Amino acid sequence: MKKIQRLFSLLFLLMALLFTGISVNAQAKLSIGRETARQKEKRMQWWTEGRFGMFIHWGLYALPARHEWVKNRERINNETYQKYFDEFNPDLFEPKKWAKEARAAGMKYAVLTTKHHEGFCLFDSKYTDYKATNTSAKRDLVKEYVDAFRAEGIKIGFYYSLIDWHHPDFTIDKYHPLRPANDDDTAAYPALNKGRNMAIYRKYLYNQVTELLSNYGKIDILWLDFSYPGKLGKGKDDWDAVNLLKQIRKLQPGIIVDNRLNLEDYTDGADFVTPEQVSTKELEKYKGKVWETCQTFSGSWGYYRDEDTWKTHRQLLDLLITSTSNGGNLILNVGPTARGEFDYRANNALDSMAQWMHANSKAIYNCTYAPETFLVPDNDKLTYNAATKRLYVHLFEYPASGTLTLKGYKGKIKYAQFLHDDSELQYKEDGNDLILTIPIKKPRFEIPVVELVLN
Ligand code: GLC
Repeated sequence: MKKIQRLFSLLFLLMALLFTGISVNAQAKLSIGRETARQKEKRMQWWTEGRFGMFIHWGLYALPARHEWVKNRERINNETYQKYFDEFNPDLFEPKKWAKEARAAGMKYAVLTTKHHEGFCLFDSKYTDYKATNTSAKRDLVKEYVDAFRAEGIKIGFYYSLIDWHHPDFTIDKYHPLRPANDDDTAAYPALNKGRNMAIYRKYLYNQVTELLSNYGKIDILWLDFSYPGKLGKGKDDWDAVNLLKQIRKLQPGIIVDNRLNLEDYTDGADFVTPEQVSTKELEKYKGKVWETCQTFSGSWGYYRDEDTWKTHRQLLDLLITSTSNGGNLILNVGPTARGEFDYRANNALDSMAQWMHANSKAIYNCTYAPETFLVPDNDKLTYNAATKRLYVHLFEYPASGTLTLKGYKGKIKYAQFLHDDSELQYKEDGNDLILTIPIKKPRFEIPVVELVLN
C-alpha cells in the first residue's frame, strides 16, 4: 500500500514538474513567463516610440531576382538551386551605406534576414555548410550588418525563417519546393518524406537561434517567420515553440519577438502582431493592439528585377502616418541586389522619406492616436504626442482656400505652427471652431504637418 502511495506522489511530482513555467491565468489562457503588463510596456518602450524600421530581405534569391519564393514557385530542387550559391559574390556589399540610409530615413531599427525559407545562412553557423562564409563572400555578413547598424545607433533585429527548404530533414509540406504535383494529394507525402526527420531539423533550428542570440551581442528584435498549422502545414509543435521562446528570452531578456510562432494560446507567446502588406484602411482595425505592419516598396520582399508596382512617395508616407495615427509601427522593406546594393528605386524611396522625416519626424516618434475629443479635419490624419502635449494635423489635402477649420477646437490650443520650419500659423475663433490661416502656396512636402500646442 505504502509503495502505491509513494508511486502516486512521485507521479504527481513529475506532472507538477512538467507543467512548471506553464501556468494558467484568469482568462484560461496559458502563459510562458511571468512578466507584468507594465514590465512589458517598459521593455518595448523604445520600439513603440521609434515607430519606424527597415526590413532587409537578402539572400541567394537576389540572383534569380524573381521573388524570394522562387524556389517554391518554380519547384526548384537543391541541386538546381546550387548555382545561386556558387555565383553569390556580393562585391558591392557595404552595410555602412545601408545603415546610413536607414538612419537618414528616420528608421530606428532594422531587421535582416539571417536565413530565409531557402535555408541559406548569411551568418557563420557551425551547424551548416550552407552559409555565406563558404561562398565568394567568404565572411559572416550578419556580423558586418550588426556592426554597421549598431554604429549608426540603430537597434538590431534578426529575421529567421522557421521554414527551411534546403535542410534534408525539414519535412515536405504544402509549401515545400518538392511537394507533389498536386499540392493537396495527402497520400503522396509519406513516401516523399521517407528518411526525413523533423526532430533533427527542430534541434537545428534551436541551435541556430541560440547561435544568433549568443554571438552578436545585444539583439533587440527577433522576427521568426512563419507558422501555417494544419494537416499539410507546420505549427508550434513542429518548432517546439514554447521551449524555443523560453530559450530566446533566457538568452536575450530584453528582446522583442513577433507573433509567428503559432503561440496564440499563450498570453505572452508574442510581443506584437504583424499585419503584412495590408491597406491603410485595414490598419485602423489594429488600434489598441501592439502592432507593426510590414510593407514592401514593391510587390516582393527579395530583389525582383522586373517587378514594377513600386509604391509612390505619397503611399509610403500614408503608411507611416496611418500607422502612427493608429498606434502602430511601420517596417519598410528593402531587397538589396545580389551584388549587395540597394536598387536605385529603393534609394529614391528612402531619400524621399529622409526629406520628409528630417522635417516632420516629431509627428511620428513617440506619437500615437489623438484623444477622441479632437475631431479629425476632413481627409487629414492626426497624430499626438502625450508627453509634449502636441497634436499634429497631417494635411493630406492641402486647403486651397488659405484656411484650415478645426471644428470644436476652441480653447484647446495655445499655439499653432508648421512643423517643418516652426513658422507661426495665425488663427481666430469662430463659434466653437478655430480657423487657421494657411499660406496659399503649399510647402514643398507631399504631406505638410501643422503642429498644435495644446492647453
Ligand atoms: C511572408 C513571406 C515572406 C516574407 C515575410 C515578411 O510570410 O513568406 O517571404 O519574408 O512574410 O513579412
